[in-house]
Order: sequence, then C-alpha cells, then structure tokens
Amino acid sequence: MSVYGENEDQGKYWNEKPGRSWVLHDHEMNNRFQNISDILFASLDAPNLSNVLDIGCGAGATTLRMAKSLSGRGTVTGIDISDALLGLAREKASAVENVTFTWADAQSYQFEPAGFDGAFSRFGVMFFADPVKAFANLRAALVPRSKLVFVCWAPLQDNPFFLEPMEVVSRHTNAPVIAPGTAPGPMAFGNRDYLSDILQRAGYQATEIVTRQTTLDTRQSPQEDAALMMKIGAGARMLFEAEPSKAQVHSVQEDFVRLSAAKRSGGITRYPATIHVVTATA
Ligand SMILES: C[S@@+](CC[C@H](N)C(=O)[O-])C[C@H]1O[C@@H](n2cnc3c(N)ncnc32)[C@H](O)[C@@H]1O
Repeated sequence: MSVYGENEDQGKYWNEKPGRSWVLHDHEMNNRFQNISDILFASLDAPNLSNVLDIGCGAGATTLRMAKSLSGRGTVTGIDISDALLGLAREKASAVENVTFTWADAQSYQFEPAGFDGAFSRFGVMFFADPVKAFANLRAALVPRSKLVFVCWAPLQDNPFFLEPMEVVSRHTNAPVIAPGTAPGPMAFGNRDYLSDILQRAGYQATEIVTRQTTLDTRQSPQEDAALMMKIGAGARMLFEAEPSKAQVHSVQEDFVRLSAAKRSGGITRYPATIHVVTATA
C-alpha cells in the first residue's frame, strides 16, 4: 500500500499541484480562516487536554495554535496525507517543542489505541474514501468518552465563497455547476443527517452539530484576491477541469476581481460563510 493508504486520489491531489498551491498561499488562507479557527478553538476544551491530535492538519496553523495552548503541560500531533503541506508545517514548528507531525492517511494509520485525550480538525476530515472507517479509526485513537471536535462546510448554497466563483466559471466556460453531493471533498458533510449517521456508525456515543454563520475576511486587494481564487478553491478546481482557453481564463479572472470588489468595505473583503461545528464523544 502506498503512503496514501486507502486514499490514493486525495493523496495525489494534496501532494501535487493543488497541495503546492496551498503551501504557497498558506498565510493568506489562514487569514481567511481566522474567524473559523476562533470558533473551533472556542469549542475545544484545551485547558483540560494534554495529548491532542490535529486531523488533516495541513501546514499546521491550528496545530501550532494548539501547541501554544498546551505549552508546558501537553503535546499535539498533526497528521496529514500531504508531505508538501507537512514540509511547511515542520518548518514553522522548528522551534516548538510540543509538536510532532505524522505523514499518513488518517483513515488507515495505526494509531496507538486510546493515545489521545482530544482530537480536532479545521476542514481536514471531509476527504476520506470511507468516512465511517476513518472516523472509527480516529475514535479508537481517542480515550473513551473524550471529544472529537471539527469544523466542516455547510451546503454549497450557504457558502458564496464556493458557489459564486463556480457560477463565474460556469458563465464563461459553459461547464455546469454540479452540486458536490457526498463524494470526498470540501462539501462532503454539508448534509447534517448524513454526517450524523456516519459518526453514529463509526461508534461515537453522542454527536452535536451546530451550524454557524461567519465570514472569510481578507485585506488583499480584489486583484490579489482574484489571483488566489484562480489557484485555490471550488472555482479554481472547476476552471482547471474545464480546460479553458486563454480568453476564458482572462474573463474569469476579471469577474473574480469584480466579485471580490463587490464584497469590499473599509479595506476588508468579507465572504459570508456557513460551517458546521461538530462535537462527537468517543
Ligand atoms: C482544506 S485542507 C485543511 C488543512 C488544515 N486543517 C487547515 O485548516 O489549514 C484539508 C487537509 O486534509 C488533508 N487530508 C485529506 N485527506 C486526508 C487523509 N486521508 N488523511 C490525512 N489528511 C488528509 C489534506 O492533505 C489537507 O491538508
């Protein structure tokens, strides 16, 4: 089995061009996700944790934030399938003692049983080929009755940050906007009933899903923001798959600039966003 375990497609995706784009734009993506990190950390009982797992930790922003909370009394492990993103995470954590990173597929990695007293994720758990198996594997890594807390995206129609760039791409390439359904990907857990059922089947004793509205904020200019949208996110992915002409690429980028400018006020562009904050008891 490759290092991507049972998640070969996502392993390739996050190690190849898209993953490398995330490495290049890590700082800006973290700015956009700042409000969401604050919501996630407010839901975590960090003062009472000592050995914590960050699932799909990417370039480690949330892992490092947890390391700071645990400083002097606990450690955090970030697991991710992307060596590219972990490379940056390790660089950022080089002077931090209470962090380790593991390059592995969280669905199939053999964790030490009941080794963690908490686990969390910012958008790192929606990509599993077999989510029931993955969440069961993660549950076995948790002390019984400890908590898994994560944030994931609510449905596409509640997230203009995803939907509007897709509509722009559709307008210019004629590619249809296809609802993502439950296939592995950012929107896989939009449906609360589907998500709740997965966690129940994975053996969690109780699950609470709270849907929250927030914003993704950036101080980047509309031109810079549009350039990022061309590289990361649902619009970028759809554009790549549409194999556009140069003229289409140009028109899409111009409309991304307009999209961003329309949401700008007082030097900040704010995209409304809706997330689920999920707490499950192992
Ligand atoms: C949207 S990114 C979020 C990264 C990070 N949590 C953050 O908020 O910056 C999704 C992450 O999940 C990771 N991932 C996807 N499938 C995975 C799997 N099966 N096992 C471990 N990590 C996975 C990807 O490599 C990527 O880093």
